[in-house]
Amino acid sequence: MVSLARTLGIETSCDETSVAVLGRAGEIELNLLSSQIERHAPHGGVVPEIASREHLRVLPGMVREALTEAGGEIELLAVTNRPGLIGALLVGVRFAAALAWARSIPLVAVDHLAGHQASPFLRPGKAARESPSRTLALVASGGHSSWYLMTPDGSQQLGRTRDDAAGEAFDKVAKVLGLGYPGGPVVDRLARRGDASRVPLPRPRLKDSAVDFSFSGLKSAAIRSIRERGLEGRGEAKADQSVYDVLASFESAVVEHLLAPLPNLIEEHSPEVVTASGGVASNTLLRGRLREVAGLFSVEVLLPNKELTTDNAAMVARAGQLTFAHGYQDDPRCLDAVGRAAWQPPGMRRKAQASAGRAT
Ligand code: KG4
Ligand code: ZN
Repeated sequence: MVSLARTLGIETSCDETSVAVLGRAGEIELNLLSSQIERHAPHGGVVPEIASREHLRVLPGMVREALTEAGGEIELLAVTNRPGLIGALLVGVRFAAALAWARSIPLVAVDHLAGHQASPFLRPGKAARESPSRTLALVASGGHSSWYLMTPDGSQQLGRTRDDAAGEAFDKVAKVLGLGYPGGPVVDRLARRGDASRVPLPRPRLKDSAVDFSFSGLKSAAIRSIRERGLEGRGEAKADQSVYDVLASFESAVVEHLLAPLPNLIEEHSPEVVTASGGVASNTLLRGRLREVAGLFSVEVLLPNKELTTDNAAMVARAGQLTFAHGYQDDPRCLDAVGRAAWQPPGMRRKAQASAGRAT
C-alpha cells in the first residue's frame, strides 16, 4: 500500500460546507458536513449568494473543529477549486490557500468530479481501496452526468449529458409536484410505491452518440404527464398512487438512460470495476440495476456509502492525496477558483518543485 500524506480536505463548491481529515492510508478520520439545504429550500434551488455567505459563516469554525478533534500533523491541504458556483468555490479556495501559506503546508486543488470518482474507494473506518487499473465510473449529480474511464494515467470522459444533469431532472420534476428541494431523495422514496408501467414515458435517443445523455426531453415529458393528470403542486402529504406511478416511471427512465451505455462500455474497455458516485448514486433503483447489469458481465460494482455519494470533503481529500502522490501541487499565492467544468488531460498540470511546501 502506498503511504500518502495525512490530508485536510475542504469542499465548498455548491450548498454543502465540508471539512475532512484522511489518514495516510486514506482512512476517514473525520468528515464534517454542514448542509445549507434549509436555507435554499424556500427558493426551490440553490441561491449562489446565500451559498457563498453560508460557507463564509461556517467554514472557519469547521476547520478549527477538525484540526482540534483530529489533532496531529496535517501534511497536505486539498480543496475543490472547480467546477461549481464561483463565489462558493472562492470561499474554500482562498481559505485553504491562506492556511497553506500561513502553516507552510503543501496545497493541491481538486476537480470536484475527480472527488466524486474517488468516493467509491473510501471505506469508513478502513484504509481506502487502491485504485484498480481500469475502472468505468459513472458520476451522476445535480450538475453532472458522465461516464469516465479511470486508469493509473488519469481519467478520460467517455460520454456526458448534452443538457440537464440527472439530479437536476429529479429536482425539477419534484419541484413541479410540490415535493420540495432537493428532489432526488423524496422521488426515490415515493417511487418505491409506484408502478412504472402505468405511465409510459419516451426514452431519450441521441442519433450521433450511444454514450452521451439527454435528460431535458424526458423531464418535459414527465412534467407534461404530471400536468395532464392534475398532479401539479400536490405535495407529499396529498401524494397518491398516480403520483407514485409517475415518479416510478420517470425514475426508471432516468436509470435506464444512465445505464444504457454500460454493456457496450464494458465490452469495449474491459474494466475490473464499475463505480457510480454523485448524489444520484444514492438512488435505490440505480444501485440495484447497476449491480444487475454489471453482474451479467461478472464485473465488480463498487458504490460509495450513501453519505459519501453527495458532496463531502473526504472524497476531495482522497483525490488530493492521490494527486499529490503523483508529484503535483498548487501555488497558494495564485490558486484560483474556476466555475466551469474542465477535464485536464494528465500531464498538463505543473509538477511540484522537489521540495514540497511553500512556494517561493
Ligand atoms: O453530488 P451532489 O450532492 O451535488 C452535486 O454535485 O450536484 O448531488 C445532488 C443531487 C441532487 O440533484 C439530488 O436531487 C440528487 O443528487 N439525489 C438523488 C438522490 N439523492 C440525491 N437523486 C436520485 N435519487 C436519490 N436517492
Ligand atoms: Zn457533487
